[in-house]
Amino acid sequence: MCPLTKSSSDAQTENERTRIVQAGDVALQVVERGQGMPILLVHGFPLEHSMWDAQIAGLSRRWRVIAPDLPGFGGSQARGGVATMEQMADDLLALLDALEISEPVVLCGLSMGGYIAFQFWRKHASRLRGLVLCDTRAAADAPEAAQARLKVAEQVLRAGVEGVVDAMMPKLFAPSSLEKHAEAIGVQRQKMLSAAPQGVAAALQGMAARPDVRGDLPRIALPTLVVVGQHDAIATVEEMRAMAQAIPGAKFVVIPESGHMAPLENPAAFQAAIEPFLTRVERGV
Ligand code: MLT
Repeated sequence: MCPLTKSSSDAQTENERTRIVQAGDVALQVVERGQGMPILLVHGFPLEHSMWDAQIAGLSRRWRVIAPDLPGFGGSQARGGVATMEQMADDLLALLDALEISEPVVLCGLSMGGYIAFQFWRKHASRLRGLVLCDTRAAADAPEAAQARLKVAEQVLRAGVEGVVDAMMPKLFAPSSLEKHAEAIGVQRQKMLSAAPQGVAAALQGMAARPDVRGDLPRIALPTLVVVGQHDAIATVEEMRAMAQAIPGAKFVVIPESGHMAPLENPAAFQAAIEPFLTRVERGV
């Protein structure tokens, strides 16, 4: 079976639970599966939890996986205004509280999920046991990139999400994946198209305003895994290697045959990278 697809019998197993949880002032959809050390999977832009389907299945064999949809994405309520990375970190904390998870979690965030992970670490480090930073950036947007995002946000509010989704597609996936997994990537495109314009615009504005955290990296005192797709066009291998080198003791893995969506494009290689890391975090070694 193509690694990006999922058979319908996998869609909702007896151990997997999908529900809407009130997290502070926002209702978030969350998928939960498995028992043990909690792993919080935070999706990228403009995706939703199903980008982690392979990891939800693979990691839940040993651990408790929690995969929410961020506000305005998937089945979660959209909020007005700017969705700052700090606000979404607070939303995730409220979600953990609502799920009564007080034990520290391993937070695994991809791209925008990584921007949020940095803010979660800055604000709520005591709730973390480890970090997995996938295909993400520590630098802020350059001023012209931030301006361009704000323009796209206006366009999304005016004309809907299709334009931004189609502009993102070639940046998200390696050219070989676009060819090899065309059908499954089409399914992901449909899911992105269902995102609420208000939520997509709010996230674009939030990403444009996000702070540069490069100066904070040497202070991250948590077990950290930095993962990047070999052909990532948004967070390059060089940029992510520098991120890993700046975080004390961080492990760095390049996932072959994948672009920005490494966990989705090459789930087997991603699993081979993350599983030994999580085992060490669990054992405290
Ligand atoms: C993402 O995958 O979350 C986006 O590429 C992040 C971004 O646009 O900076």
